[in-house]
Amino acid sequence: MSKLVPAVRSGDVLMPALGFGTWQLDNGTAVPLVEKALEVGYRHIDTAQIYRNERDVGAAIRNSGIKRDEIFLTTKVWIDHFADGDLQRSAEKSLEKLGVDHVDLLLLHWPKPDVPLAQTLKALNEVRSRGLTRAIGLSNFPSALLEETAQLSEAPIATDQVEYHPYLSLKTLIAKAHALGTSITAWSPLAQGKVAQDPTLIEIGRAHGKTPGQVTLRWLVQQGVIAIPRTSNPARIAENFDILDFSLTDEEMTRIHGLARPDGRLGDWLDKAYAWDEA
Ligand SMILES: NC(=O)c1ccc[n+]([C@@H]2O[C@H](COP(=O)([O-])OP(=O)(O)OC[C@H]3O[C@@H](n4cnc5c(N)ncnc54)[C@H](OP(=O)(O)O)[C@@H]3O)[C@@H](O)[C@H]2O)c1
Repeated sequence: MSKLVPAVRSGDVLMPALGFGTWQLDNGTAVPLVEKALEVGYRHIDTAQIYRNERDVGAAIRNSGIKRDEIFLTTKVWIDHFADGDLQRSAEKSLEKLGVDHVDLLLLHWPKPDVPLAQTLKALNEVRSRGLTRAIGLSNFPSALLEETAQLSEAPIATDQVEYHPYLSLKTLIAKAHALGTSITAWSPLAQGKVAQDPTLIEIGRAHGKTPGQVTLRWLVQQGVIAIPRTSNPARIAENFDILDFSLTDEEMTRIHGLARPDGRLGDWLDKAYAWDEA
């Protein structure tokens, strides 16, 4: 199995194109799974304050014996800590729980209109200039809001982490993000497991000796998108990492893009003040 995960230029940092997601891995379950992911070769771990597993993720990183600077660690600030002062304290608390002196990327978890964006961006940039995070970014920001944020921010917006899988088209956001030098990180990249039953993905996978999940992750990475699949199954941790030794043809890429549908979105917690891009 190749261990050479491509890096994606994200603002002023490089992010490994494949990471391990940890949503819903709480009550200690994240420890052995993150340890396993690091053993398999993942060097990018995605957590969040709201996942209640920052202590476990930090413990797993220390247990792995892998040097801190070889791991790209992302966490996220929850929406009720976006005011100046609250955000800085929230970042400090995350670092304390993770047991690290900095993260590689700190994201605003969802856009929220309660606090002016300029105030939140000032606080986020301050966290970065104090060295508590190497890079800053967003999650679940539609393209117009991403553009507004990029204009307000002193530091580049490294990534916008959003739902993306074969059942959702993201053309407008990807074009906008890439024009701004911001990468896209795909959450729910496996459509929460739904891709495993997809006849098109099964058929394409057969041609390459790969599973539908592997085909999906390859489709994302081949577009220059970062994918952060989650699994609580150790065998699938290895399966989801084994996507670097094959390529999809242009025709296969197009067929997978064709699976997008209007009702493909799985997780919509966007505040009513905002709207998703149409496609
Ligand atoms: N920023 C945000 O707002 C946000 C929102 C949601 C998620 N995220 C991040 O994105 C990560 C991934 O998203 P996600 O957890 O929603 O969904 P996902 O990675 O698309 O799917 C996870 C589900 O798929 C199953 N699965 C994993 N590998 C598989 C495979 N090879 N074949 C078939 N099924 C497979 C898992 O079941 P088993 O455990 O049984 O394998 C699990 O039920 C999260 O963990 C989190 O880090 C961010």
